[in-house]
Amino acid sequence: MASSADRNIFLGKFVLFVLALVPFVLLGWETFNDQLGPNPVETLQRRTGIWTFNFLMLALSISPLRDISGLSWLVRFRRMIGLFAFFYGLLHLFSFVFFDHSLELAGILQDIRDRRFIAVGFLAWLLLLPLAATSSNWAIKLLGGRRWQVLQRLAYVVAVLGAVHYFWLSKGTALLWPIGYATVLAVLFGWRILKRARS
Ligand code: HEM
Repeated sequence: MASSADRNIFLGKFVLFVLALVPFVLLGWETFNDQLGPNPVETLQRRTGIWTFNFLMLALSISPLRDISGLSWLVRFRRMIGLFAFFYGLLHLFSFVFFDHSLELAGILQDIRDRRFIAVGFLAWLLLLPLAATSSNWAIKLLGGRRWQVLQRLAYVVAVLGAVHYFWLSKGTALLWPIGYATVLAVLFGWRILKRARS
């Protein structure tokens, strides 16, 4: 029989799942009701991009939040948060290959070659793949806990590349946003280094 702690985690995961789908449902609603503004493709790209980044940063914040608060159960939500980063990343890629390029490979490759922010975003997306692919219990067992943990560090690389991508595509006062995200990322990174140095 499931303990009450397990039941609470299950309920928490259900609530998280519903909440994490809110940006997707809103985006779908606005798309079908023609409410994405004068440049719908740009809006789609920007919204899916920012939610990819938000979930990634949230996933990276779980360990520090657990250590500060002592709430060890927080870790049980990390996998779902990470998979939502991948889900929004997939939508982000789709909005680019379908709406910007109508699936035309030559144009996609040319954009990756000619625009550095696209190249960096693409690399970040590629590095999300092994993280998503090894998120199951089966994959963790197959890799072994230690190797799996080392692989998880890729999430930091993805976040750094995501921050560079965001910085390169922003202009003027909008630059404050990527700078803000990069600052939070630096704090998370600093915390990790300090923790390692202390142990
Ligand atoms: C296949 C890879 C990717 C491609 C082709 C791509 C492409 C784009 C494009 C075309 C935009 C809109 C630029 C504009 O409106 O001027 C954008 C925005 C953005 N992307 Fe990506 N991207 C990729 C991967 C990623 C990844 C992995 C992340 C996060 C880690 C990310 C985060 C963002 C953010 C935060 C924005 C801006 C959102 C805003 O302005 O509010 N992108 N991306």
